[in-house]
Amino acid sequence: MLGSNACADRIARQPLQSRGDDANRTTTVQTLTVALGERSYPIHIGPGLLGQAALITPHLAQPRVVIVTNTTVGPLYLDRLRGVLEAAGVQTLPIVLPDGEQYKNWETLNRIFDTLLEHRAERKTTLIALGGGVIGDLTGFAAATYQRGVPFIQVPTTLLAQVDSSVGGKTGINHPLGKNMIGAFWQPRVVLADTDTLNTLPDRELSAGLAEVIKYGLIRDLPFLEWLEANIERLLARDAQALTYAIYQSCRNKAEVVAADERERGQRALLNLGHTFGHAIEAGMGYGNWLHGEAVAAGTLLAADLSRRMGLISADDVVRIADLFRRAKLPTHAPALGVETYLAHMGVDKKVEGGRLRFVLLRRLGEAFVTAEVPEALLQAMLSEGTTGLVRS
Ligand code: NAD
Ligand code: GLY
Repeated sequence: MLGSNACADRIARQPLQSRGDDANRTTTVQTLTVALGERSYPIHIGPGLLGQAALITPHLAQPRVVIVTNTTVGPLYLDRLRGVLEAAGVQTLPIVLPDGEQYKNWETLNRIFDTLLEHRAERKTTLIALGGGVIGDLTGFAAATYQRGVPFIQVPTTLLAQVDSSVGGKTGINHPLGKNMIGAFWQPRVVLADTDTLNTLPDRELSAGLAEVIKYGLIRDLPFLEWLEANIERLLARDAQALTYAIYQSCRNKAEVVAADERERGQRALLNLGHTFGHAIEAGMGYGNWLHGEAVAAGTLLAADLSRRMGLISADDVVRIADLFRRAKLPTHAPALGVETYLAHMGVDKKVEGGRLRFVLLRRLGEAFVTAEVPEALLQAMLSEGTTGLVRS
């Protein structure tokens, strides 16, 4: 599936030599393109990118940016980014938001709008998201809606954001009745994934990002899955070369899917493997108790177990997936929330169509598909048995 994707030839791999701030260090930056016609944009991956204003300035419509970050990431990286931009003649205004998924809501969004209006941000003012997926989703949605749309740039600082949320243009906020239910498609002008920022990321957050990395292998890239099985400990040890490779392969997979199906009319739904169950776990356990990536890992195991019960993959395949999650220090079984709780939360899902739930299942390792044809009894049995440790490795 990977090699035959018609979009593959539109993804340019352009290794380039560049220099980080440290003059003694020469680094290799990997660049690929999300091919969306006139809205195409580059993703740069590698160390030292925060120190390179030249990767940002060509994408600005005016020398003025608003940098949105949070109280955790701001103290670590805001001064550095502001410093290089100001030195390049760009006026910067920071907005520092509270940290946490619970702040991905209307109130926080309004704080961004208040500041933009108070400082008379214009249509050509670019918003820069400096942080993880929460900051990226909030800032992207603010950019999509402020004055009916202003440019924005993603500077993701978590592994999850570097491999998933910063790419593809899904932006939005949570509603008390459902996660990510309010939002817009709005593509960034450029994505800068500075792998150096991962050095300050807590171990648990690094593992959560690996859940989304493993997802790409499971849904469409068996060679990458096999590479992950051989290299997962290098990623946990933050081996820079391994991380850059994994981020590049993840973004390449995502870029191919997004280029083929930007608005999720078809194959983009495959990127949600484990997410319907995962969102139910996040909501059912109380937002913030399970990280998004942890819930996705557990949800992926439920999807795998359901695929096994449908006669698609083997029990050995499920154990193989669970083993990779275990090695990545991710959950190897889903919480026993009860069938009713799962079903109630899963009913509020963007993949529900005509009142019917649609599932992303595995036909085999490296190939996923979407179906609504899951017998109710089988789903219920899986939700009561598969969440009690049957897939525990
Ligand atoms: P997050 O944004 O909450 O970041 C996790 C934690 O790490 C936060 O406390 C953050 O402040 C901190 N942090 C970020 N960078 C750091 C760094 N370099 N060093 C130290 N700490 C750092 O969570 P996340 O996992 O990045 O993103 C999850 C969010 O992304 C969810 O809201 C999810 O819905 C969304 N998401 C969106 C998409 C999409 O396509 N738009 C895809 C996947 C997930
Ligand atoms: N994270 C799923 C998507 O971008 O479609």
